[in-house]
Amino acid sequence: LLLVALRPLFFFLLPIPLPLLSLQIFINNEWHESTSGKKFPTYNPSTLEKICDIEEGDKPDVDNAVEAAKAAFQRGSPWRQMDAPSRGRLLHKLADLLERDRVILATLETMDTGKPFLQAYFIDLEGCIRTLRYYAGWADKIQGRTIPVDENFVCFTRHEPMGVCGAITPWNFPLLMLVWKMAPALCCGNTLVVKPAEQTPLTALYIGSLIKEVGFPPGVVNIVPGYGPTAGAAISTHDSIDKIAFTGSTKVGKLIKEAASKSNLKRVTLELGGKNPCIVCADADLDLAVECAHQGVFFNQGQCCTAASRVFVEEQIYPEFVKRSVEFAKKRLVGDPFDARTEQGPQVTQFDKILELIESGKKEGAKLECGGLAIEDRGLFIKPTVFSEVTDNMRIAKEEIFGPVQPIMKFKNIEEVIRRANSTEYGLTAAVFTKNLDRALTLASALQSGTVWINCYNALYAQAPFGGFKMSGNGRELGEYALAEYTEVKTVTIKLSQKSP
Ligand code: NAI
Ligand code: MG
Repeated sequence: LLLVALRPLFFFLLPIPLPLLSLQIFINNEWHESTSGKKFPTYNPSTLEKICDIEEGDKPDVDNAVEAAKAAFQRGSPWRQMDAPSRGRLLHKLADLLERDRVILATLETMDTGKPFLQAYFIDLEGCIRTLRYYAGWADKIQGRTIPVDENFVCFTRHEPMGVCGAITPWNFPLLMLVWKMAPALCCGNTLVVKPAEQTPLTALYIGSLIKEVGFPPGVVNIVPGYGPTAGAAISTHDSIDKIAFTGSTKVGKLIKEAASKSNLKRVTLELGGKNPCIVCADADLDLAVECAHQGVFFNQGQCCTAASRVFVEEQIYPEFVKRSVEFAKKRLVGDPFDARTEQGPQVTQFDKILELIESGKKEGAKLECGGLAIEDRGLFIKPTVFSEVTDNMRIAKEEIFGPVQPIMKFKNIEEVIRRANSTEYGLTAAVFTKNLDRALTLASALQSGTVWINCYNALYAQAPFGGFKMSGNGRELGEYALAEYTEVKTVTIKLSQKSP
């Protein structure tokens, strides 16, 4: 993997044809070939070149990983006997190694996803390191309660690890979404079986080598690269996996819940899609609102569950907002993600779906202000696209686009915008731009979404919970709230011979 990461830097010096290298499956702190003998490729979406092949995990490999994770969770195992501060130290050490190898990890992430290197380095890696350190601190602070019950009983709760946790991660923030699951799972004392997205498995596999170097006992973290309907489904249907955390499409989120109910009723947390309203009131700081709405939808090539993909602007300022948003979009630099000036790289995948949705916008009568096309001959690049005169019934106003497309709508009053913002099956995030405190708080309480940002966007912190209302998901990641998703509550009740005074 190191060779893969360094290749862009030493292109001419490395005689090894990297596409012939093959990365393996990580089980019990060892590297394995796939049981089937199959491999799959991962590509660089900037160049459409194959980066390398990866051993393709499937059900038998997941079974081996689960056996390892189960054994590591057995009563009396090194992991179960480890005290909580030592678990915290391991997580801190993992954060140290991410800091040490930050350039390598950011390089791998950029090659595999096409996201600008500086964003991978400063946003993805920073988020990973902070999340690991945050949960490192929680490891020895997970406490139950003492509960006064009736008569002569004493009652207390223990917050125990659940057991073997599955993690299925997406391709938009491959490493960050893994760390959001791995850090709380390990902090609470669970073991893990991870399946990274097939489009972007490199950073997860690099983490395997760091897990071993840190000294996590064998079997605590296992990483099985492979496809969703095979390796992914083997995790969601597995009878010995106690909990599953998933980030990805709503469609697959439903399949995972279904698989959980058809197998062992494993606990499920889901972080799914969004069609997030971004409401700009006439009294807002317009410079701030335009820039936040722009970054909110175009960040990470638009491939964000938090994307500001329904911008509602109060009618008085609508023409000016559209004009300034178009200026921003036209200036956005699209190109080589390793160029420090680049703001937007290629799409990881879903290229045709995005172009098809753009076509639907044109056909359904939205006004195309700029973009609207792919950039020819250059990998999976799409021009930053802005649509005005968008109405709620258009597909671009209803469906998750997951690409660099900004649909801008108009509203007249607060009650109307609340109703329209909430009329979606999703409820992940919402943003409000206003200087009026009363309006801000009215909207914050009325909007049906797991997060409301006021005069800011994508303000995500390890300390604050993140998750969705409605079909945007179940449960919360990050913050103290996530600990509840990785622990079972055990109630211990003791009968005393006398009533306590
Ligand atoms: P997806 O939901 O298929 O992929 C996410 C993960 O689920 C991958 O690791 C994949 O291998 C796995 N998976 C797929 N089928 C599975 C199955 N039957 N059982 C278990 N795991 C399975 O998402 P896809 O098709 O790559 O993207 C489709 C759309 O989903 C995107 O256009 C976007 O709208 C949304 N999406 C949302 C994400 C988010 O951050 N919430 C991330 C990725 C996609
Ligand atoms: Mg790739």
